[in-house]
Amino acid sequence: MNRALETRSPFLRVLDGTPFDPPPLWMMRQAGRYLPEYRAVRAEAGDFLTLCYTPKLAAEVTLQPIRRYGFDAAIIFSDILVVPHALGVGLTFEAGEGPRLTPVTDSEGVAALKDRLDPDKVEPVYEAIASVRATLPAEVALIGFCGAPWTVATYMVAGQGTDDQAPARMLALRDETLFQSLIDRLVEASIVHLAGQVAAGADVVQIFDTWAGVLDPSSFERWCAEPLRRIVAGLKALHPHVRVIAFPKGATLEALERLADTGINAIGLDWSADRQAARRRLSGRVALQGNLDPLRLIAGGAALEDEVARIRDDFSGVRHIFNLGHGIRPETPLDHVEKLVEAVRRAR
Ligand code: CP3
Repeated sequence: MNRALETRSPFLRVLDGTPFDPPPLWMMRQAGRYLPEYRAVRAEAGDFLTLCYTPKLAAEVTLQPIRRYGFDAAIIFSDILVVPHALGVGLTFEAGEGPRLTPVTDSEGVAALKDRLDPDKVEPVYEAIASVRATLPAEVALIGFCGAPWTVATYMVAGQGTDDQAPARMLALRDETLFQSLIDRLVEASIVHLAGQVAAGADVVQIFDTWAGVLDPSSFERWCAEPLRRIVAGLKALHPHVRVIAFPKGATLEALERLADTGINAIGLDWSADRQAARRRLSGRVALQGNLDPLRLIAGGAALEDEVARIRDDFSGVRHIFNLGHGIRPETPLDHVEKLVEAVRRAR
């Protein structure tokens, strides 16, 4: 671990135990289509996966939001579906339609997954991380990431995103043993991929569990909490100083409480979370990240500024990282992001 960075980065200091005012700030999906400079590089790359797998371009788009807005953390530009792709699953991104994968629905499909991550898919991610770290200001932290096994499995089983990820939920109910074997493969692959990112220079990793909210409590424990516990233990055995943020979108407060003892350093809250309750029940154990509704950033005005002030009040004095409750949307006006940065950093 880089100790000089640790003392200078407010984001890392919050994760390591110290509240900060104003809170450090970054945005999920901060490198993306709302930025004209991203759209230009994306057009140059042609295809989304080419952008992900070309270290020079991935590093460039990672740095764009840092240059424009001075966020406290950069998140490496990649995608959670790089892991199944590196396990040998066919993957394409259809323009305007989202991802398409070769569905994995039976034991033959799970058995056909590669034993190790294809270096052609993961090495470019590590190269991009090393190159970003080399140019990033020392006080800006670098975040690596992966999808949580449950969320990645939902895309692998359906072969695409669906409204409620019923295909994976159905498979988990009909054939628990098969589904467990898929989750186990993803736990192992996630540890390897996160460890590779940390070795390349990531200070922090975030685990995106976008579909955590569609499970009942016992399924949440089995498919979300338990795999997370194993990933954190496996990763911290290799890299004891890495900080881990979990983002279990849509999870209830009771479910979030079950995650607080998995060894993670922070929990990302979506905009539906009751902040006062989350503060009472979680802030003694983990830092809290979030949770502005991305639509408020599009609306702007009082809808944006009043909520930013409420979020800062609700989390004042506890460890808080300002973020959105989910990814920024492509139609977000640039000057509203400017307003957000000003409002989060305004003296109180
Ligand atoms: O946060 C960042 O800036 C880093 C980059 C990042 C991307 N995807 C780039 C991307 C991250 C962290 C992700 C995570 C991701 N990818 C998640 C979890 C978080 C979430 O948003 O729920 C999921 C579920 C995916 C899978 C995925 N990738 C989908 C469903 C889609 C299509 C929908 C969409 O937003 O377009 C993608 C494509 C994708 N991933 C884009 C970007 C910038 C848009 C592709 C483009 O530029 O054409």
